[in-house]
Amino acid sequence: MNDDRQAMIDKARRHRNRKVFRSHVPVMKGPDPDRIQPRKRYAQLVFLKNVIKSPNIEVGDYTYYDDIRGDKPLEFEKNVIHSMQEKLVIGKFCSIGAETVFIMSGGNHRLDNVSTYPFGLMGSGWEIVSYEPELRGDIVVGNDVWIGFRATILGGVTVGDGAVIGAGAVVTADVPPYAVVVGNPARVVRRRFDDETVDMLIRIKWWDWSPEKITQNVGILASPSVERLSRFL
Ligand SMILES: CC(C)(COP(=O)(O)OP(=O)(O)OC[C@H]1O[C@@H](n2cnc3c(N)ncnc32)[C@H](O)[C@@H]1OP(=O)(O)O)[C@@H](O)C(=O)NCCC(=O)NCCS
Repeated sequence: MNDDRQAMIDKARRHRNRKVFRSHVPVMKGPDPDRIQPRKRYAQLVFLKNVIKSPNIEVGDYTYYDDIRGDKPLEFEKNVIHSMQEKLVIGKFCSIGAETVFIMSGGNHRLDNVSTYPFGLMGSGWEIVSYEPELRGDIVVGNDVWIGFRATILGGVTVGDGAVIGAGAVVTADVPPYAVVVGNPARVVRRRFDDETVDMLIRIKWWDWSPEKITQNVGILASPSVERLSRFL
């Protein structure tokens, strides 16, 4: 092969490689849900599932805990108390404010005994009576739930998708999807959308989309134009 021909081939190769390089545009798919801290400079915010060790706690992708005052986000599990037998299950894309506490019902003293005192736990002869808490079931938090600062959620409660729990609320009963609850005991002050829209959102379940699809449609998800989601029904 003469030099000219070899030079032409090399040039064509270089050109082809350049084209391959140009067409290799990375597919955007948002932050990595398997990272502990999605933002290095905001270390108190963690993707919660990556800091959970207890088998009684399950958390979905992208749900975060923002320990804005405590600086100990890795110790979130200390906020889940009395979880001996029951589970705390939290969905995807929830925002959990600092100092939120989940009080599982494993610590519920018996109201039907003469005394609420847990004699059986103290030993030295009192262990002849058993300590049997009044269990109320798992705490289940749906997807896309925003829990405000220092909220408390009691055992057995289910919080629906899209709900909002106001700062300082004490949630003692189930919260419907897309409801806003405040106060102690927490009461519904409004729903974020009308029933038809809530029904649509629950059917679309955008939180189960692929990271690529979420990234492509993040402009809709982060806008009030909820009607633009109807094309995904
Ligand atoms: C609940 C919240 C989101 C507001 O929701 P909203 O639907 O816009 O509610 P409004 O502001 O219209 O208030 C509705 C009623 O609830 C009351 N209310 C609102 N937030 C409340 C709260 N946290 N505790 C008790 N009452 C509250 C209001 O005073 C109002 O009462 P009124 O009807 O008697 O006047 C907001 O008040 C809140 O608590 N945000 C959490 C902030 C936070 O914790 N940020 C840090 C963590 S990320």
